[in-house]
Amino acid sequence: MKIYDGRKIIPGILIAAVIFSFPFWLNFGKAAVPPKPKLPKEVKNCVEPTTFMRTSHMQLLNEWRDIVVRENFRLFAAPDGKEHLMSLQNGCLKCHESKADFCDQCHNYLDVKPYCWDCHLAPKENK
Ligand code: HEC
Ligand code: HEC
Ligand code: HEC
Repeated sequence: MKIYDGRKIIPGILIAAVIFSFPFWLNFGKAAVPPKPKLPKEVKNCVEPTTFMRTSHMQLLNEWRDIVVRENFRLFAAPDGKEHLMSLQNGCLKCHESKADFCDQCHNYLDVKPYCWDCHLAPKENK
């Protein structure tokens, strides 16, 4: 009869777990820089610096919504001097033309599901 030596098996399992999860550890701490959202080609700048947008676009969207809904004011002055319509559909998605190729790229990866599209229209995607 064979006797399994638990003292060897357990470390073996742990080592295997570390090796197989290695791709995950490589990504650790980089979750905010996920797959490949397709960026606009015709314009260079977002409405705020890219690093800010990456981390804070949700807050910015909330601010936009509040200003539009409460104050009925719709123009946003960007740091680069340009003006943008404070709108999900007619602002963000004017430049980021495809929700599927842009917003969803990150959100699916992170399993975030903004409920905005219950009401706001996404652009018609070319399938
Ligand atoms: C005038 C066109 C324009 C508008 C309007 C615009 N963006 Fe952008 N956005 C860009 C461009 C161009 C980039 C890439 C900039 C770069 O390469 O550094 C970008 C980058 C981003 C990024 C970072 C992407 C990455 O790969 O890290 C996010 C997130 C983002 N935008 C979200 C939004 C949201 C949300 C809105 C609306 C509140 C918005 N954008 C409005 C042009 C725009
Ligand atoms: C570069 C990756 C990236 C791109 C591109 C991106 N997002 Fe996000 N989004 C995130 C991250 C990260 C979060 C925060 C997730 C969390 O807090 O758990 C988020 C959260 C949000 C939230 C808040 C959702 C919630 O339930 O808290 C909204 C709203 C949102 N994004 C809108 C957009 C819109 C609209 C676009 C496309 C114009 C977009 N995002 C593009 C990465 C991205
Ligand atoms: C229950 C329906 C509903 C949901 C869900 C919703 N909104 Fe809105 N939102 C509205 C309405 C109605 C307006 C006012 C439209 C106007 O005055 O142009 C508005 C206005 C806005 C505006 C400014 C105007 C524009 O054209 O975009 C922004 C930005 C906005 N919402 C962002 C969001 C974001 C981000 C989410 C998800 C986190 C969201 N909304 C979810 C109904 C909704």
